[in-house]
Amino acid sequence: MKTFTLPGTDIEAPNVVLGLMRIAEKSDDEIRELVRTGRDAGTTFLDHADVYGRELHECEARFAEALALTPSERDEYTIQTKCGIVREGPYFDFSYEHILESVEGSLRALRTDHIDVLLLHRPDALVEPDEVARAFDELEAAGKVRAFGVSNHTPRQIDLLRRSVRQPIVANQLQLSITHAAIVTQGLAANMVGADQSVTRDAGGILDYCRLNDITVQAWSPFQAGFFTGTFLDNPEYAELNQVIGDLAAAYDVPPIAIATAWITRHPARMQVVLGTTTPERVAGAAQGSDLPLTRAEWYALTRAAGHIVP
Ligand SMILES: NC(=O)c1ccc[n+]([C@@H]2O[C@H](COP(=O)([O-])OP(=O)(O)OC[C@H]3O[C@@H](n4cnc5c(N)ncnc54)[C@H](OP(=O)(O)O)[C@@H]3O)[C@@H](O)[C@H]2O)c1
Repeated sequence: MKTFTLPGTDIEAPNVVLGLMRIAEKSDDEIRELVRTGRDAGTTFLDHADVYGRELHECEARFAEALALTPSERDEYTIQTKCGIVREGPYFDFSYEHILESVEGSLRALRTDHIDVLLLHRPDALVEPDEVARAFDELEAAGKVRAFGVSNHTPRQIDLLRRSVRQPIVANQLQLSITHAAIVTQGLAANMVGADQSVTRDAGGILDYCRLNDITVQAWSPFQAGFFTGTFLDNPEYAELNQVIGDLAAAYDVPPIAIATAWITRHPARMQVVLGTTTPERVAGAAQGSDLPLTRAEWYALTRAAGHIVP
């Protein structure tokens, strides 16, 4: 597993992360097997959110109940969680009170005294950056949160936060897969009249902004074709892409999911891939894509096969 020091922290982070959004209905044994398979493959960085599960904090609590980590086992993992979504509505809330209340709930559910990385989940149009800064300062001073980041944010939204927040924004979690790839591919077709890919849907150059500012992009839904529309892997609607993935998987002697992972990890932005599968073999398979040396020709062949313009 390829690791790197997460800029702005002293966390040694793997570039493949295990997301635990889908574990609510899994048994303790299934959760243990999933997390331990991930650990053995090097995915010791875990992604949670207060809203994952049928009830608030449910997935965080299911994880903690199933694993029942001792303090030293706890320290083998980097635990990231998110706040800022209110399920009833839904709406977004980056108020001081909401951030603190959510973190207290996460600490209780996760049965830990600290969160390694806290992300603001989705931009709150009513954000007051000074309030966020006050919440972050208090959480940091109390040792409850070690590092802070965002998710689904644009460059200007991050700039606005950074004017008030003292701590570095270390991560921006964004949707990215070979097929849902505007943050990578929009720039390939910029300024091409009539090309849909030329339309700015990359949140205003967010990938380059993050690279320029040492903010690690974390790719969520790395195998989903669209917004929770099902995976492109083994999907006949993506026959050409699966053909290229299959050929590369055979050439590198890895499962296809490793190639889909490598399309993201091969990018020089040093992104992290946030897996959502609850199938242990898929986690182990994806981990094999952590450090796969796809050539430029191979990376672009995958990009073209997913239907993107490479003009
Ligand atoms: N920041 C945000 O706004 C945001 C939003 C969504 C998700 N996330 C994070 O990102 C993580 C990943 O999201 P995701 O679950 O949508 O991503 P994903 O890894 O692209 O999708 C996983 C889902 O696809 C299914 N699947 C079916 N065939 C598959 C195959 N061949 N290979 C792999 N998976 C296959 C999995 O089923 P099985 O479980 O049966 O394998 C699982 O339900 C979440 O756990 C969460 O931590 C963040």
